[in-house]
Amino acid sequence: ALALKKIPGLQNFYYFREVDSTNRFAKEVENSAVFAETQSAGRGRIGRKWESQRGGLYVSFSLNISIPVNEIPKLTLLAGVAVAKTLEDYEARIKWPNDVLINDKKVSGILSEFVGEELSARVIMGIGINVKNKIPGHLRDKAISLKEIDESVSITDIFVRLCTNLSELMKRYPSEWKSILGEWKRLSSTIGKHVVIEAGGRKYRGMAIDIDLDGGLIVRTEHGNEKIISGECFYTSY
Ligand code: ATP
Ligand code: BTN
Repeated sequence: ALALKKIPGLQNFYYFREVDSTNRFAKEVENSAVFAETQSAGRGRIGRKWESQRGGLYVSFSLNISIPVNEIPKLTLLAGVAVAKTLEDYEARIKWPNDVLINDKKVSGILSEFVGEELSARVIMGIGINVKNKIPGHLRDKAISLKEIDESVSITDIFVRLCTNLSELMKRYPSEWKSILGEWKRLSSTIGKHVVIEAGGRKYRGMAIDIDLDGGLIVRTEHGNEKIISGECFYTSY
């Protein structure tokens, strides 16, 4: 409770033994954190399913910071920094835009959504972290749970650290955005890698060389530098 109070503007805490999706619920409430032990219909990006067995951390923050919709990618990067800092002891790295990986396997995903008007959106920040949950067989080679590297890991500890990091970063936003982006770069494994980005029905192939101030990834392709605001990123060897 103490950790939650530090997040600017946060007033309510909803705790579910089970819910369909904390993001879905969070859209209906304001200034709240929504926590669930398990989700029956956890959602991932681009209409995917998020496996949400008991033992994982599933939380959504409904934040009344009215911002223009085009700033949401920045808050998504900020959330990625909060998660990566929380898992820094486990050598977690962010893959652009905001998958958090350990040993190239996904340990956390972030789904940011917004409710409201184009110029004053309320932000829903949904975070899933595999802590002690079982990874279903079909994801074994793509996903990892923290318990596989730390038997004594605790959801409460991870949650408190996440809230502390998130509140610290939110207080620095937007005034210290540049230094937050610096932390993103430090915690990311994407810059300097050969990537293929799928965005808006196109594929961009090249070297990820930087991230610019609005959170777009700069990729050096054979056609020159391209800036990509959101998409799917794959690492390749050439
Ligand atoms: P398609 O895109 O054709 O539906 P898919 O396997 O990518 O195939 P889903 O099964 O809907 O689609 O979504 C699973 C995706 O989400 C995979 O990319 C998987 O890596 C990821 N995923 C889902 N739950 C978790 C989880 N708990 N931890 C890590 N990754 C997860
Ligand atoms: C992704 O990588 O595709 C994003 C996954 C986001 C999962 C979290 S779990 C808590 C919140 N509620 C949901 O239904 N999804 C997000």
